[in-house]
Amino acid sequence: MNTRLAVVPHSGTVAIKGATVVDSNGSRQADVLVGDGRIIAVQAADDAADLTAERTLDASGCVVAPGLVDLHVHLRQPGREDAETVETGARGAALGGFTAVIAMPNTTPAIDSAAVVREVQDLGAGTCCDVYPSAAITLGRRGEELAPMAELVRLGVRMFTDDGAGVQSAMVMRRALEYASGLDHLNGGAAVVLAQHCEVEELSVGGCMHEGEWSSRLGLGGQPAEAEELMVMRDIALARLTGSRVHFQHLSTAGSVAMVRAAKQAGLPVTAEATTHHFTLTDACCADYDTVFKVHPPLRPEADVAALRSGLADGTIDAIATDHAPHTSDDKDKPFDSAPPGMLGLETALALALTELDLPIEQILALMSWQPAAIAGVDDRHGRPVAPGEPANLCVIDPSATWTVSGEEMACPSRNTPYEGRQLKGRVRHTLLASEPVVINGEAQR
Ligand code: DOR
Repeated sequence: MNTRLAVVPHSGTVAIKGATVVDSNGSRQADVLVGDGRIIAVQAADDAADLTAERTLDASGCVVAPGLVDLHVHLRQPGREDAETVETGARGAALGGFTAVIAMPNTTPAIDSAAVVREVQDLGAGTCCDVYPSAAITLGRRGEELAPMAELVRLGVRMFTDDGAGVQSAMVMRRALEYASGLDHLNGGAAVVLAQHCEVEELSVGGCMHEGEWSSRLGLGGQPAEAEELMVMRDIALARLTGSRVHFQHLSTAGSVAMVRAAKQAGLPVTAEATTHHFTLTDACCADYDTVFKVHPPLRPEADVAALRSGLADGTIDAIATDHAPHTSDDKDKPFDSAPPGMLGLETALALALTELDLPIEQILALMSWQPAAIAGVDDRHGRPVAPGEPANLCVIDPSATWTVSGEEMACPSRNTPYEGRQLKGRVRHTLLASEPVVINGEAQR
């Protein structure tokens, strides 16, 4: 770690000075030199030699960490470029400290073929963030025939999901899990994972918010917690039956957290994510029928929020994801029951976790960087230790900076942030992708 530094600055080198390095190996005070896509040196603060580079980024009072990894973003391309593009989504991601995002396949057309996978990969190349398309488990996300998963794994797809909908048929899901378990060898041994949006539609149909006291008061159709929990229960059983990995997306209920905890204790190969909105907002936010608070799965009562927070604290939940879901103002400007579900998340996620969770920053970074990187199979490039020779995908965070959320100032053309006007603590100062500073002092560089 305490490597001596070259004194002659190489072209394109960047020095990050004055920060505390936090990675999966712990914390220490050190300066970091990067260039040519990699970390060149990490120099302990008490080392007398000064570190020279073509450019120096001030990181005093900051934390430098592996870039964040978001397992769940909707980048809307192809099909809804008015709401978001891969380019604007990647820029928002970089502003939020992310160096890798997994793009969901509920685009138009769906990401269920080699052509669309390649299209999204091409759109992502050269943006501010590494964009990894996930692909649909079933053709057209219709829940019937399996997508050509082997072909898509060969192209680099590591996560499959019908997100936006869950796979309703237990038999189709069983077949998908059996098929996926034989595909790891196609992609250099990186594990393939099936991720599930848990929602039994027979129970959620007609609902547009959580079924409970608030849906009764507001006269809106409800989606019971059980619509999610029945599918979590089923897929835990299928993980046991097939031995294949299942990742649970955007868990939102106390019952789901308890089942995943028990499944992990039983040694089953399951992982789970929680979104920032599910652990910071409740169904009471829907009281004014403001569609910015409409999301699937829906915001839940306080007891569920508390259970998610406990699950994040005790390791039951492996990752914080955003489920960043842009929608145009025209689309959101509809009655609550007919507006599309979803909210922005990329630029607020880290600050919300730092502001709202009573967890040390080391644990928050585990939940937002190296743990999701491992789940998505991108841990060859992301979430790596900050050490010489490693890919220089990094974020620099000022944990004490306070700021006010403004949708207008976000990179996304859509404005549906539920945190408008909220004061948050903790802000991304710089983001480096393959050693290039793509965000400097909170400003995107391209
Ligand atoms: O709220 C949501 N929005 N949940 C989903 O599962 C899909 C997403 C979207 O695509 O807008």
